[in-house]
Amino acid sequence: MAVKIGILTGGGDCPGLNAVIRAVVKGGMKKGWDVLGFKYGWKGMVDNETVLLNEQTVAGILHRGGTILGTSRTNPYKNTEHIAKVREAFKLNNLQALIAVGGEDTLGVAAKLAAEKLPVVGVPKTIDNDLACTDFTFGFDTAVNIAMECIDRLHTTAESHNRVMVVEIMGRHAGWIATYAGLAGGADVILIPEIPVDINQVCDVIKNRQKRGKLFSIVAVAEGAKFAGKDVTQEEKLDQFGHVRLGGVGQILAEMIEKKTGFETRVTVLGHIQRGGSPTAFDRVLGTRFGIDALRLIEEKKFGHMVSLQGNKIVPVRLEEATGSLKLVPKEFFELTEIFF
Ligand code: F6P
Repeated sequence: MAVKIGILTGGGDCPGLNAVIRAVVKGGMKKGWDVLGFKYGWKGMVDNETVLLNEQTVAGILHRGGTILGTSRTNPYKNTEHIAKVREAFKLNNLQALIAVGGEDTLGVAAKLAAEKLPVVGVPKTIDNDLACTDFTFGFDTAVNIAMECIDRLHTTAESHNRVMVVEIMGRHAGWIATYAGLAGGADVILIPEIPVDINQVCDVIKNRQKRGKLFSIVAVAEGAKFAGKDVTQEEKLDQFGHVRLGGVGQILAEMIEKKTGFETRVTVLGHIQRGGSPTAFDRVLGTRFGIDALRLIEEKKFGHMVSLQGNKIVPVRLEEATGSLKLVPKEFFELTEIFF
C-alpha cells in the first residue's frame, strides 16, 4: 500500500505557503507517496475536509501568495470533541504522517499531538519571524520588502511636505519586520514591542533632526509596541489561541508627536498588505527547502520535530522546544538601528 501523508496550513496566511505545498506534493510523488491536503488548518481535520493533491493541483502556484489549502486560527484543543476528531482523521484517512505548516499556535497543536504519539512534523511559517529555533521563517522576507518599499514611498511625500510620517507595521510580540524594514528603509525612529515606548525620547529625536535641517521624519512602529506597558488593541475579543486584535498604536503615536512637537504628522497602517501577494525569491526557496526536508523528517520517522533554518542549513529541532518561547529581537541587534536615530 502506498504511503499516504497529510498537509495543512494554519494561522495567518503568508507568502511562501504554496511553495511548501508544491514541494511536499512534487517531492512526495517522486517517492510514490499520496498527499492529502486538509482545508483551513486544523478545522479541515476536525471536519475531515480534504483534497487529494497532485501535479495538476499544484501547477502554477509557486509565485502565488496565500495558500491553496486555505487557513484558519482553529484550536482543536479548545474542544474535546474537536481534538478527538483530529485524532480520528489520522485513522479515517489512513495517514502515515501529517505535515503541519504554521507559527507558534499551529505548531503548538502539532507539538501536543506529537506528545500523544501521533506522527506529526512541522514547517515553521510566520511573517512575524518570532518562532524560536529557526533563524528565519518564510514570509518574513516578503513582508520586510513590502514594508521597506512603503517606507521608501513615504519618504518622498514626507520630504515634500516637511511632515512626520508614522508607519504602523505588523509584529504582534516581536518587532522583527519593523526593525528590518526600518533599517532597510532608513527610518528615523523604530519602535518595537520588546522596548517600551518613551514618547519624550521619540519627540527629542524628531526635534533634533529639525535642528540639523532635516525637516521630515519617518517613525516605524510595530503594532505590538507598548505604551505604559499596555498593548493598543482594536477589540478586546480573543481568538481561539488567546490573542487580541492589535492595531491603533500608530494613530496614538501620531497624535502625541503632533501635540508635543507641533510638527504636522500623518499615519499609515500597512496592515494585511504586508501578508498579500507574491513571495520573494528568498521565501520561495526557503519554503521549497522546508517542504522537501519535511519529507525527509517523515522518512526518518523524526515525528515531533520541525525543520528549521540555521545558518544556511536545514536542521531538525523539537517542536516542543520551538514552541516553548518566542524569538524576540535581541537588544544588541536593535542597538544597531539606534546609531541612525
Ligand atoms: O500572522 C501574524 C500576523 O500577521 C500578525 O503580525 C498580526 O498581528 C496578525 O497576524 C493579524 O491577524 P489577522 O490576520 O487574524 O487579523
